[in-house]
Amino acid sequence: MLVTGGAGFIGSHTVDLLMSLGCKVSVLDNLSTGYMANLAQWDADPRFAFVGGDITKDLAEPLAAAVAKFGPIQRIAHFAAQTAVPVSMDDPVTDIEVNLAGTARILEYARRNKVAKVFFASSSAVYDDDAPVPVSEDSTARPASPYGIDKLAVEIYLDYYTRLYGLKFTALRFMNVYGPRQDPSSWYSGVISIFLDRAVAGDQITIFDDGEQTRDFVYVTDVANAVVTSLFSPKPDGAIINIGTGVEVTINEITRTILALAQSRSVVKYEPARPGDIRRSVTTMDRATALLAFTPKVDLREGLDHTLAWVRAQKSSAA
Ligand code: UD1
Repeated sequence: MLVTGGAGFIGSHTVDLLMSLGCKVSVLDNLSTGYMANLAQWDADPRFAFVGGDITKDLAEPLAAAVAKFGPIQRIAHFAAQTAVPVSMDDPVTDIEVNLAGTARILEYARRNKVAKVFFASSSAVYDDDAPVPVSEDSTARPASPYGIDKLAVEIYLDYYTRLYGLKFTALRFMNVYGPRQDPSSWYSGVISIFLDRAVAGDQITIFDDGEQTRDFVYVTDVANAVVTSLFSPKPDGAIINIGTGVEVTINEITRTILALAQSRSVVKYEPARPGDIRRSVTTMDRATALLAFTPKVDLREGLDHTLAWVRAQKSSAA
């Protein structure tokens, strides 16, 4: 099993689940936004190998290292990516190099080496800004960013590889994923990671727009479960599936919950809407239920509790 981007937020939780299921896991990651600390728990495990590698460069060496360690790669979970929508708008060329050309490198390896299944981390950013609510997989894909365009382009490549070479894949379009290990340190980080970080520090929280915009927040271990089911079950072969909870939450609600949970006195300030922000986002659950038997196990309250505990632990170990 190869996990690209396995030192990152969702990738490392997927590694945790695969390792706990007894798999042998190689992680390919250039540590541009991931951290070895996310994998420290597996360092000494003989079923785990970190092979380095950068998907924008030749991968012969790291992939050969993975094969030398555990034999031919049967399955690939592909997370390695440039993950920030605003960064892709500033620099579409780099987004193409990493998210599209880098992925093509993984797909070429998969077909030449007869990899049994590829999982691809896609995004709800492929949908039109004013897609219907809730959004289903049949809604028009008309991305509002280079990031969304490149994710959609990969989905089209996956279909092409299936038709030409019989490659088996599943692509999951993630809604707003949150949980421990999500890095709050940049302005384009996930809203929950930023707000929990500010709330614990007692710093000001900034809500863009009127806070009545909505999102579908899905906890990272639920996402990892969906990924692992995709990798091992034949049912979602060739499918593109939204992964969320089907629950629509306003930014105002999430802010109130976070402030109460953290017992924080952070001041909340409102600023104009961010350009390109969508107003409402929530997914239908039908396809995820039918093809992955997916039901989220961690509700928002419990997920926030876990994430808050992690934020506090991070802050106390940094102090
Ligand atoms: C998220 C994903 C993106 C994905 C998209 C698909 C993250 C970091 N981004 O973008 O990769 O393609 O969903 O729908 O998970 N907000 C504030 N204050 C802040 C930060 C954010 O009010 O300090 C608001 C934003 O204006 C937005 C909402 O919170 O309305 C969510 O923002 P964010 O967490 O950045 O995610 P998305 O923009 O939905």
